Amino acid sequence: MTKEEVLQRMKELAEQIEEHNYRYYALDQPVISDYAFDKFLEELQSLEKQHPELVLPNSPTQRVGGAVTKVFATIKHQHPMLSLSNTYSMDELHDFDRRVKELLDIPQNEKIEYVCELKIDGLSISLIYENGLLSKAITRGDGVQGDDVTTNAKTIRSIPLKLKGNFLSRMEVRGEIFMPVKVFEKINQEREEVGDIPFANPRNAASGTMKMQDSAEVAKRKLDAFLYYLLAENLPFKTHWECLHHLKEWGFKVNENTAICCGIEEVKEYINRWEEKRWHLPYETDGVVVKVNASQYQKTLGSTAKSPRWAVAYKYQPEQALTQLKNISYQVGRTGVITPVANLDPVFLAGTKVKRASLHNADIIEKLNLHEHDYVMVEKGGEIIPKIVGIDTSKRTDHSKKVVFITHCPECGTLLMRNEDEAAYYCPNEFTCKPQIIGKIVHFVSRKAMDIQSLGEETIELLYHAKLIKDIADLYELKEEPLIPLERMGEKSAGNIMRGIQESKQRSFERILFGLGIRHVGETLAKKIARYAKSIDHLESMSIEEMIQIEDVGEIIAQSIQDYFSKEQNIRMIQRLKQHGLKLEIEQNTYPSDKLKNLTIVISGTFTKWSRDELKDTIEQHGGKVTSSISKKTSYLLTGEAPGPEKIKKAKELGIKIINEDEWIKLI
Ligand code: IVH
Repeated sequence: MTKEEVLQRMKELAEQIEEHNYRYYALDQPVISDYAFDKFLEELQSLEKQHPELVLPNSPTQRVGGAVTKVFATIKHQHPMLSLSNTYSMDELHDFDRRVKELLDIPQNEKIEYVCELKIDGLSISLIYENGLLSKAITRGDGVQGDDVTTNAKTIRSIPLKLKGNFLSRMEVRGEIFMPVKVFEKINQEREEVGDIPFANPRNAASGTMKMQDSAEVAKRKLDAFLYYLLAENLPFKTHWECLHHLKEWGFKVNENTAICCGIEEVKEYINRWEEKRWHLPYETDGVVVKVNASQYQKTLGSTAKSPRWAVAYKYQPEQALTQLKNISYQVGRTGVITPVANLDPVFLAGTKVKRASLHNADIIEKLNLHEHDYVMVEKGGEIIPKIVGIDTSKRTDHSKKVVFITHCPECGTLLMRNEDEAAYYCPNEFTCKPQIIGKIVHFVSRKAMDIQSLGEETIELLYHAKLIKDIADLYELKEEPLIPLERMGEKSAGNIMRGIQESKQRSFERILFGLGIRHVGETLAKKIARYAKSIDHLESMSIEEMIQIEDVGEIIAQSIQDYFSKEQNIRMIQRLKQHGLKLEIEQNTYPSDKLKNLTIVISGTFTKWSRDELKDTIEQHGGKVTSSISKKTSYLLTGEAPGPEKIKKAKELGIKIINEDEWIKLI
């Protein structure tokens, strides 16, 4: 193919991909299979790899992410991003309607046309389009200036990178980025599995995600966006409704539950209609936004310093229900922390049947002054798990007893302890309390630690009950024969387990350190600690003062690490892991060289053979340095699939050598 032909094909592919993206993500009406879609994407990726100089601006391959933003630049909004004034009652809503008519000089008995939209619970975003191309995505920030999150926003498939049809040459489109409830639940489940703190609600999850530095990670989080507001010079549209219509035509995802309401009574009907129905939507909403439809009226009404006078948000009261407390169960986590859970008489709340509510810790039970069999008010706010917010004491009988937090572990009977300044009680019997033992092994084999997929929680319990394992080192001393006769096992499964365990010996020191389950040492921190300490022996010998030199390690974490190594059982277990050949030091000495000495390398795109962290490690092990942006000092731009076109452009301008994965292998 000639260069022109390649370019032509790239354009065709980009257009096709974006069209199918739009049909799939904005309209929810796909017309081709996922397989066919992937084929288009692969073809474009491969052409871009062969001809990095031809990569189109805003190519849809950027949706997989890859570019890393170290610090988000601050950008001033061209028009401040106002918020809405809130109303909580129908009376306040009537006040709003009355005020609008007064200001517009319209008789009170006439009806105003409003547009009602669901208030999406996410984070607001401003998108700037120039000549139909997405040029900037900026968070609300303080309303005057926000963060440049363009790279991350580009991974959101419902945000068009290139507009269709008769768009305006320069415009700003505002809307809400959110995390679908299903995605939120899945991410939280994964976080809990590895001992990370789960997100409190989808909104926090969405805003946390948009602040991530690695856009490839953002892409995996599957955020979504509804757009609801258009700003441009001399807008040719007479109503807000018309604006929404055009937004949709240009390729934006506009919420389909938007309606025109004639007069405030119809607005009230809309609000009532969605009060319960909203809980069946795949995203969270916390109210209804009511907007004056006519553009001319909006202009006349204008804004105060804080919010427009032509719109108001009606916020739904958090849903509450009264039900009876049956009993409290106490769960023991892998670190021994005791979590009280209220078991309730099932009750319908926000569209789902609620049977349990979290009680968090002893202080909360005390503060509520909870008694046995109390009638409690449960509320579902932004959180998925409902909480108890109050008690109807009028329903309490005279002889009902106050709930007293347990004093001994419900699993092993050990006296519970509580650290100063901590709300949680914990069972100190970490080496013989069953849920702690099993929890630790489950954590050790989890995906982000040793990734032994043939060992799930059930199997671990089975092996524990058969007295075959009682700590993680026992895994490496397992024999195949005793496994075979176990329930639901057999030769094949036993073989898989043995193989999985053997293979796990290849895992890096970083993963093992995370897998040990030291309190407060999560996945990211384990990497930093491993790279600093270089070996488990050195880490063990480090003082608190030395440990706090490590990025993100404070005194509490340092103390927790030291506590871990102060226990003889842990030291003995680590010795056994060592004997079984696990990598308890950074693999630096396997291929050290100074081949990349004095070289500065920028990485862009996604790689098939390595993760970014691995690439970075390798470069550093060979004496090179990795930086995030290209300058005159850059020696190479190392590109994977779908590298950032800006980076390619800059590298070319500065005459910096661009190398791909294969050339990279040759280099080292
Ligand atoms: S209109 C100038 N419409 O609610 C008016 N806002 O408290 C701009 N929001 O910051 C806002 N859904 O983040 C509008 N359909 C919707 C909305 C919506 C959610 C958020 C938005 C805004 C906040 C106002």
